[in-house]
Amino acid sequence: MTSAPTQTWNPADYHKHARFVSDLGMPVVELLAPKAGERILDLGCGDGALTLKLAQMGCTVKAVDASPHMVAAAQKLGLDAEVADGHALAFEAAFDAVFSNAALHWMQQPEAVIAGVWRALRPGGRFVAEMGGHGNVASIVQALEAALQARGLPAHNPWFFPTPEQYRALLEAQGFAVQHMQLLPRPTPLPGDVGAWIETLAQPFLADVPQAERPQLLAEVVNALRPVLCDAHGNWHADYVRLRFAATKPPTA
Ligand code: BEZ
Repeated sequence: MTSAPTQTWNPADYHKHARFVSDLGMPVVELLAPKAGERILDLGCGDGALTLKLAQMGCTVKAVDASPHMVAAAQKLGLDAEVADGHALAFEAAFDAVFSNAALHWMQQPEAVIAGVWRALRPGGRFVAEMGGHGNVASIVQALEAALQARGLPAHNPWFFPTPEQYRALLEAQGFAVQHMQLLPRPTPLPGDVGAWIETLAQPFLADVPQAERPQLLAEVVNALRPVLCDAHGNWHADYVRLRFAATKPPTA
């Protein structure tokens, strides 16, 4: 995953409150169908949990992420990881595939990202990814926006959750041939309450809220979301919607 300006990634918090992000990433690995010996770029590698799986499958994996903390965590796993902005990838025909899980929605200029992925791929290479899609965490966004609006504060929404049609058009405009494009609602159990999820993964929304007022705002948001996202046993889930796709750079490109 890459970072919005006010999002700080802490690998320990991420491990505690967002481990499911990579744990639930196997379907997109299966869509990638990596073969031993392939050169793969993991775009927005986070702490490297899925990068490691690709490496264990025999691929030569380069991992990039905008967060130095996450890159350090990936390097601790022995991975070839470096800090890079997904909007300005500097690779030329270096990979058989570009892979990405739960990262592209942090990148607000998709045209620049897709152009960099195109350059990074050899002709015939594939771009396989999963990201938040249209409607992702909509109830959480709505509750945050309402609490901020009540205080006269702006909502800094750091995410881009496109429709399948929107992302297909972006890929095709670059020249990609799209083989697979699917929007999947995936309600996702949370290890804690939605407040912990917000503090770990939605920090930009809180950027203008004075530190002393944050607990009150978070309590309001948690209470507003309890009837929607928490069951009778106190188990929380988030209203995730995934956009999963596979596309190819034509062999003649
Ligand atoms: C997601 O994977 O959909 C996601 C992760 C962090 C924040 C928002 C969405």
